[in-house]
Amino acid sequence: MPKDLAVGIHDLSFATGQLVLTHETLAAHNGTELGKYHVGIGQRSMSVPAADEDIVTMGAAAAAPILARHGADRIRTVIFATESSVDQAKAAGIHVHSLLSMPSATRVVELKQACYGGTAALQFAIGLVHRDPSQQVLVIASDVSKYELDQPGEATQGAAAVAMLISADPALVRIEEPSGVFTADIMDFWRPNYLTTALVDGKESVSAYLQAMDGAWKDYTEQGGRAFEEFAAFCYHQPFTKMAYKAHRALLESCGREVDEAEVVRAIGRTTAYNEDIGNSYTASVYLGLAALLDGSDDSDGSDGSDGSDGSDGSDGSDDSDDLTGRAIGLLSYGSGSVAEFFAAVPVPGYRSQLRSEQHREAISGRREIGYADYRERHEQAFPVDGGDHPAPRETTGPYRLAGLFGHKRVYEPR
Ligand code: HMG
Repeated sequence: MPKDLAVGIHDLSFATGQLVLTHETLAAHNGTELGKYHVGIGQRSMSVPAADEDIVTMGAAAAAPILARHGADRIRTVIFATESSVDQAKAAGIHVHSLLSMPSATRVVELKQACYGGTAALQFAIGLVHRDPSQQVLVIASDVSKYELDQPGEATQGAAAVAMLISADPALVRIEEPSGVFTADIMDFWRPNYLTTALVDGKESVSAYLQAMDGAWKDYTEQGGRAFEEFAAFCYHQPFTKMAYKAHRALLESCGREVDEAEVVRAIGRTTAYNEDIGNSYTASVYLGLAALLDGSDDSDGSDGSDGSDGSDGSDGSDDSDDLTGRAIGLLSYGSGSVAEFFAAVPVPGYRSQLRSEQHREAISGRREIGYADYRERHEQAFPVDGGDHPAPRETTGPYRLAGLFGHKRVYEPR
């Protein structure tokens, strides 16, 4: 049995861009058969940030409800993971720290390794909490996924931020040891400093993902991880939701198991609910999958249905088949370049009373739909780089906004 660290995710909250482009609109523009988007890649729409939104405003919007619920007194570290950084030197998390009026006795840092950065942040946070279990760490994974127009990657854009409070004795999920890890030097997807859109070898990136997943799973089993059959569900990084299906089929094959499509849907189906509407949110993607899975088990009457045990015996502690208490969830994080990590999260008794299902569904349903011409114009928009004063148009209805770029400085404010 893997060692139980009793450290994990105490709270999880996400925010997304305020605008949405549907794949119907994209398909109508480029003549693609809608089935390719809805079925072939498993995407229905993608979030687009408003003109005064970015990784900072989304990150602050995701984290604010966590601070409102738990306060900031025990948070001594903020780790901001992103690959759509707004500055080469200053950590985006410092803007969030300021917007949320967090105590000055905090360390703030930014992390990068493509979509894997959020998981690195989570694992480093767990290490910090182990060192001093009285401390909590705020992890923010926030990204805007942007590819060139009229390229295959265009249909897999998106934007979102996930904030997670990492703590001892977590109220949501315990994160277990061991992890399985894998690194290979490969150019499947990258973004040079001088480009605003990512470069990608689409087919190569799918193979690289599957190879890295296989390597991480093998390492996980070699490190003494759980057996495949112990997992109640699997939550994969979802650059597009069909990728999770490809990944799970490949994992079944790698474990020498038959690929039963009904079984694949049962194992991962619920994890795709948010990502199919939001699109790729890079570092946040796998945690949006976890949020969708947990929120999908929400019992709206507020009772968690658990038996009050610690759930560590692997039983679900409930008659309710939706209840994930004590049942292992496998998480596979992948970041191009590439790094992958496989690990297990186990929901703790009472986790359903901590969920933010309504907030999460509203974040998606509350977006304003935009037309193709509007989307295209926004895609090409950038602040002038002349050092002048460039206020951003007032557009977001979220709690924080980018006021503009003034003398090369990004200025943020509550809305
Ligand atoms: P493409 O060339 O547009 O699409 O590229 P395709 O021709 O491969 O078709 C996609 C699927 O739709 C195929 O199914 C078709 O058969 C099917 P599959 O063979 O894959 O099972 N299809 C249809 N299905 C139903 N009805 C129809 C129909 N027509 C076709 N009418 C690709 C797709 C994903 C490569 C492209 O969108 C792309 O380059 N995306 C960006 C890269 C990406 O997401 N890679 C994923 C792995 S890398 C990763 O996850 C890391 C990443 O998140 C970055 C990071 O780490 O920071 C990207």
